[in-house]
Amino acid sequence: MKNLVIGLVIGIFAGLCLAALAGYITVVNGWVPARADEPSGGFETWAAHSALRAVIKREAPKDCPVPGDEANLAAGAKIYSQNCSGCHGAPGSPKPDFAKGFSPSPPLFASGDSVTDDPVGSIYWKVNHGIRFTGMPAFNSMLKDNELWQVSLFLKNMDKLPPPVDATWKSMK
Ligand code: HEC
Repeated sequence: MKNLVIGLVIGIFAGLCLAALAGYITVVNGWVPARADEPSGGFETWAAHSALRAVIKREAPKDCPVPGDEANLAAGAKIYSQNCSGCHGAPGSPKPDFAKGFSPSPPLFASGDSVTDDPVGSIYWKVNHGIRFTGMPAFNSMLKDNELWQVSLFLKNMDKLPPPVDATWKSMK
């Protein structure tokens, strides 16, 4: 019985060492994808999305301190056009050349992609902190907290903007 336990412990230890060695060899030989001009693989996408979902579930604020009124939505549209459209696109404009070089690609919010089904706190978390290992920057050093909420509210409500805000947004380049 004692020998069985010792054998099991040695076996598990050897297995862990082998797994660590295999991981090390994979990384140092350049077999882990590092290029931005090829699509992300299935495992990579699963790991990145699962990690992001779990962190957002834990950290994203549940309540939005800024009301989704016309003034804040209009301010959000302006913040978007000044800070986000270079990657996420502007109304009536083709996919920005800049956006073509990212893997994963930025969603094109001006051309049908949307986050309107996401909670606003989750959108705010992404804009605030950015998304690691992607081109999505953390905007907390560039925008004030209420501006982060304004642009998040704008993205959340893009499909139901008050008509004057919608008209201004659609005329933005
Ligand atoms: C330098 C390019 C770049 C800029 C500028 C940029 N983003 Fe992003 N953004 C990305 C990329 C790339 C992704 C995709 C990340 C991913 O797939 O995980 C992304 C993802 C997002 C997402 C998550 C989308 C989803 O489907 O969950 C949101 C929300 C977002 N960006 C909002 C913004 C806002 C708001 C701004 C401006 C304040 C902005 N981004 C500016 C590159 C950019």
